[in-house]
Amino acid sequence: MQNKGMMIMEVYLDNSATTKVRKEVIDKMLEVLEEEYGNPSSLHRKGYQAEKLLKEARENVACLIGGRPEGIIFTSGGTESNNLALIGVAESLKKKGNHIISSTIEHPSILNVLKFLEESGFKVTYIEVDKKGKVNPEDVENAINDKTILISIMAVNNEIGTIEPIEEIASIAKRNGVLFHVDAVQAAGKIEIDVKKQKLDMVSLSAHKIHGPKGVGALYLSEEVRIRPIIFGGGQEKNIRSGTENMPGIVGFGVASRLAKESLEEVSQKLMGLKKRLWEGISSEIKDVHLNGPEVEEGAPHILNVSFRGVRGEVLLHALEEEGIYVSTGSACSSKKRGGSHVLKAIGLKGDLLEGAIRFSLGIFNTEEDIDYTVDILKKKVDFLRRFKRR
Ligand SMILES: Cc1ncc(COP(=O)(O)O)c(C=O)c1O
Repeated sequence: MQNKGMMIMEVYLDNSATTKVRKEVIDKMLEVLEEEYGNPSSLHRKGYQAEKLLKEARENVACLIGGRPEGIIFTSGGTESNNLALIGVAESLKKKGNHIISSTIEHPSILNVLKFLEESGFKVTYIEVDKKGKVNPEDVENAINDKTILISIMAVNNEIGTIEPIEEIASIAKRNGVLFHVDAVQAAGKIEIDVKKQKLDMVSLSAHKIHGPKGVGALYLSEEVRIRPIIFGGGQEKNIRSGTENMPGIVGFGVASRLAKESLEEVSQKLMGLKKRLWEGISSEIKDVHLNGPEVEEGAPHILNVSFRGVRGEVLLHALEEEGIYVSTGSACSSKKRGGSHVLKAIGLKGDLLEGAIRFSLGIFNTEEDIDYTVDILKKKVDFLRRFKRR
């Protein structure tokens, strides 16, 4: 929270859309931009220095998910990582089979790739979720057939914060000899992701959700996975992702990953504390509210999705913005689309509960004071908008 000029508070509660970059990350990025600007492929000293920085970043990102540094392929973000995982596996295993399993509540960077693959002859089974947004591992197992080459399920849903049973799904995938990809963009740095313990074959990550810069991410590949590239060129990133590496971004991602790993427990406890305070405040101060998704303590620590009956989400979003509070109606990607969120529809929301949903997403810079201010303003705005509507 900040006091700006005329004492207007600023409370940023849209951390699932993106996060504020940490100072340590900016400092290291500036060093790369100003001094260590070499190309890691160059054979001279400047190139060698850059290669060292690239290696260090790779180790830090790998460490965040308990993986081997050689398994990290740097990309331009979560979207590219998801595209690379799905198209890369589909292309490399198309002789073996043409069936993919995913869920109805994945991010558009999965769902739209699957649509593209379906147009190219692949078959996709979309597993439906329960009222809390959970995938049932049994449904995944039942959907596997002899043509199944890949299962892709997210670790944490970006709109409602459901934590999916990825460890159980991974065991099913292993038992059936099918590759398992996890979109962990919203999970990394908030809950434990450990590729060895959880037996994950592929994991997508994005720097800007963990207080790193935008436009950089990674796809983790376990030793067994062979995928076809989707970008061709000079052979960087083990020939899987050509193009001169985004060094400032990658180095920033490395620092953000190291800090996220070091503070995982502390951050997740802090965020859960703030989330509980927010929900207790909302549910005790405001009538006719509905928690969308998992019970507060069962979901990811940073995402709370609430519907305010009789108030349109978008109207409330702008009313809060007037008081310096930034929230979202769904995911940042779907907020400008018409027709309501595919995730909220998948968990059975209809009518004014669907239209009245607000996503609050917390980050490391939020304070209890932010939460209390938000509850106070919410109460006033919701009361006002409901009265206004009745007139
Ligand atoms: C679950 C999930 N996957 C993928 C992405 C895409 O990541 P990026 O913005 O780095 O492309 C997002 C971003 O909102 C996300 O929430």
